[in-house]
Formats: sequence, structure tokens, C-alpha cells
Amino acid sequence: MPSVLSFLALASAASAAAVPMAHIEPRQIAGLSGGLGALAGLFGFGKGSAAKPATVSALPPLLIPTAKREIIRWGPYTLPAANAKHTGFSLDPGGTPISGQLAGLCSDCYFLSGSTYVTYANGSRADIASGVYNHHVFVGGMGIQALNPFGCTPGAKPTVTKDGVPITLPADNGIMGMLGMFGAKGGAAPAAMAGGHSHGARSVEQAKPPKSGGFGQIFGSGDDGVAMTYASRDQSLLKAGLYIPPNVTVMHTTELVNYKNESQVVYITADVEYVPGKPEGYKDASSGAMSATGCAGVGYMPPANAKSTMTSPPYIVKMDGWIYNIHAHLHDGGINVRVLKNGQEVCDSKAVYGGKGSTTVVGGKEWATIQDYEFCYKPIEIKVGDKVQLESNYDLVAHPLRPGAQDHSMGAEAMGMVGYAFAAK
Ligand SMILES: *[C@@H]1O[C@H](CO)[C@@H](O)[C@H](O)[C@H]1NC(C)=O
Ligand SMILES: *[C@@H]1O[C@H](CO)[C@@H](O)[C@H](O)[C@H]1NC(C)=O
Ligand SMILES: *[C@@H]1O[C@H](CO)[C@@H](O)[C@H](O)[C@H]1NC(C)=O
Repeated sequence: MPSVLSFLALASAASAAAVPMAHIEPRQIAGLSGGLGALAGLFGFGKGSAAKPATVSALPPLLIPTAKREIIRWGPYTLPAANAKHTGFSLDPGGTPISGQLAGLCSDCYFLSGSTYVTYANGSRADIASGVYNHHVFVGGMGIQALNPFGCTPGAKPTVTKDGVPITLPADNGIMGMLGMFGAKGGAAPAAMAGGHSHGARSVEQAKPPKSGGFGQIFGSGDDGVAMTYASRDQSLLKAGLYIPPNVTVMHTTELVNYKNESQVVYITADVEYVPGKPEGYKDASSGAMSATGCAGVGYMPPANAKSTMTSPPYIVKMDGWIYNIHAHLHDGGINVRVLKNGQEVCDSKAVYGGKGSTTVVGGKEWATIQDYEFCYKPIEIKVGDKVQLESNYDLVAHPLRPGAQDHSMGAEAMGMVGYAFAAK
């Protein structure tokens, strides 16, 4: 399953552009971030009034004792039956798209963490075990600052091995096809994820931190439910959060899939943690993502029925700071993503499959989805000039594709990315 959102995710302050949505697919993009610049229009931004939460419940904080934690639910939304006619643009053929402005998220606050899932009116979870798949919920805001510490190596290509043997991916492979379309812009970064039509190489000259005021992701997730977390686990090493200004306009774009032949009524649900105001000592954090494909499209198709490894060209560090809370973003079939700093492994984030709510039977076959990733929480210091590479590993023998996923004929539609938090020095 490919991912549009990741693209969106990483776009930064790009000017309005007709991004060919049909080629992108956002899934689980959750943990990946950035700005949605060009795509803001797709979010129903500016249209209608903001959806008020149906319920808000306070819970004890998980990350920082002085923080506030809330479960916020928006809805109800009706998902048509699987066998009903689906209208509107969706990334999954059976998907129901939902978008618009959201009220109820904190403002003038340091946002520490947020994840999403889906619930029924009674509060119990709607998950694939009950026929609901969270393709993605993506929440962003106007006025969110996006810092990008990584620049691209113009023209550099990733290397790929199949069962240990170096290969060249065919030119019509996803990554090549997207190369020109999703070049970096606005210094956003890892071009891979940027929006707009410009070529990736431009990212280098434009690589400077954009000022606040653009559209940036706040949080979001797919069925893996992975939180986007700006707080460091070790407050003695680093205090950081994403600042949400008082005048923020929050909006979301969501797609949910109903596998049942009856409609289901659900609520988009967010679990968020934040500290009000601007406490002293906090550093501004941003979330970001980069891809093993390097500064090209993030989607690619690893060879079917094989183990494969894609290694990115080096990303060049352009700002001093720390990356932390690093986690892989893979599609089913993915094993892990390793992060190398100047050739040394600094993180190995593995996918975790199956388990309660993440295993079901589709078309008579058991199907386990990625449920979580192993995180690398510890802040890793990066300095201007450091070289960072990603290595993405897939095994399509051990983990077959999602039943009903698009483009079975072409093998998996994969991504090999990491999402991270970055705090500037
Ligand atoms: C749902 O409906 C489709 C087409 O109407 C049918 O092929 C399928 O078997 C149905 N699934 C279930 C679980 O009833
Ligand atoms: C909550 O609602 C869902 C959907 O209507 C239902 O399937 C589930 O059994 C309910 N759970 C409880 C605990 O009532
Ligand atoms: C929010 O307010 C700040 C400070 O007044 C201003 O610079 C910024 O443009 C405003 N942002 C939006 C999205 O209105």
C-alpha cells in the first residue's frame, strides 16, 4: 500500500500545484510529517465550520507529569457498506474519504504527542477485527513551523539488492515514475516527500528552514496507530514540543475502509498530550520523514517473492540538533529500516506484525498487518555536514500483501521511510 500522505506530509509551503493524487497514496503516514502546502485545498480548508468534538475525556498523562492528555472524538461519520457504491476520491477502492476543519485541539500549547484510531458511539474500538480499517487520519494546521535538517544529494540514486544480489529496479518501478513529480521544494526536504512539481535537485538551493505560517502536520496515523511524538522520553536530555499558535486553523484528511456489507457509524478518535503555553526551556520540534528512495518518490515496488534491501544515497545534515523518536514507516512486507550516520548504525526500527485487532481473515486468508514499530527514542546529535542514510528491508515471502490491495500484478507498493522528531539546537 502506497502512500500519498507521506508526500503530503512532507510537502512544505509549496505553492498550489495540481499534484497528481492518483499516483500518491497515503497510508499509515501517520508518523511522517511536514507540511501539506500545495494540498491544503484537498482538506476542505476554509470550507464550512470546524467540526466540534463529540466527546473529550481527560486522562492521566503518559509522557510528562505536568502535561494534559485528552481523548478527543469527532463524528459521527457513516461508512457505506463494502458492497455499496463508493463516491468521492479515495485511495483504497473501498475507502470513505472525510475531511474538513476540526475544533477542540489545544492551541498556544506545546503539542507533545498524538495518535488516531476509530471508535463506535459506545467508545469501543472499530478496527479490522470489526471490519474497519484506518487507512489514514492526517491532522495539520495553518501556522505550524516545519524545520527540515536534511538536504538531498542531487541526482543520487538508491542501491537495491534482491536476495543479496545487486539489481536495478525497472524504470517503470514506482520510484522512478514519481521521480520528477515529487521533487523537493521549499527546502522541505527529503525531496521524496515534498509536494509540488519541481525537481528534487532544487531542494538543495532552497534548503533553509521555512518560517512558521505555512501548513504543517500536527499528528495523524494509519491502522498501525503509531503516535507522532515530539516530546523526548528523556527530559534531562531534551525538552521539546511542536508549538501550536493561538490562531491555528486545524484540519484533517481521513480515509477509512469498511470491509462489512453493512454501513457502520464511527468516530475519528485522537489521543493527544500537550503542555499549555510556552514553558521555559522548551525547544521547538518538528516532525519529519525521509525515505530509502532518497530524493525521489517515496513509493517503490520491491521484487515479489524475495527479500530485498534498498539503501538511500546520503542525506546531508544542514542544521545542528537532535533527531529522536525515530520509527520506520513500511507497508506490509516490510521488515525494518536502519538509519546510518556517517556509515554507523544509529537506529534499527523493526516492524511488529499482527496481534489483537491487527489480524483478521479476508477472502479466506489470514492477514496480519503491521501493528507497531520498534522506536529509537534516544536523541541522536546531528551536525551540519553529517551524512545520514536509510536502509529499508522487505521480505514478501514472509509477509504477503494485503488482500484486495491495488496493483497486485505489480508486486507490493512499498515504502521504506522513517518518521522522526527533530529539535534544533
Ligand atoms: C458482500 O457483498 C459482495 C457483493 O455484493 C459479495 O460478493 C460478498 O460475498 C459479500 N460479503 C459477505 C461477507 O457477505
Ligand atoms: C459498541 O458498539 C459496537 C457497534 O455498534 C458493537 O459492535 C459493540 O458490541 C458495542 N460494544 C459494547 C461494549 O457495547
Ligand atoms: C497568527 O498570528 C501571527 C502573529 O500575529 C501571524 O504572524 C500569523 O500570520 C497568524 N497566522 C495565521 C494562520 O493567521
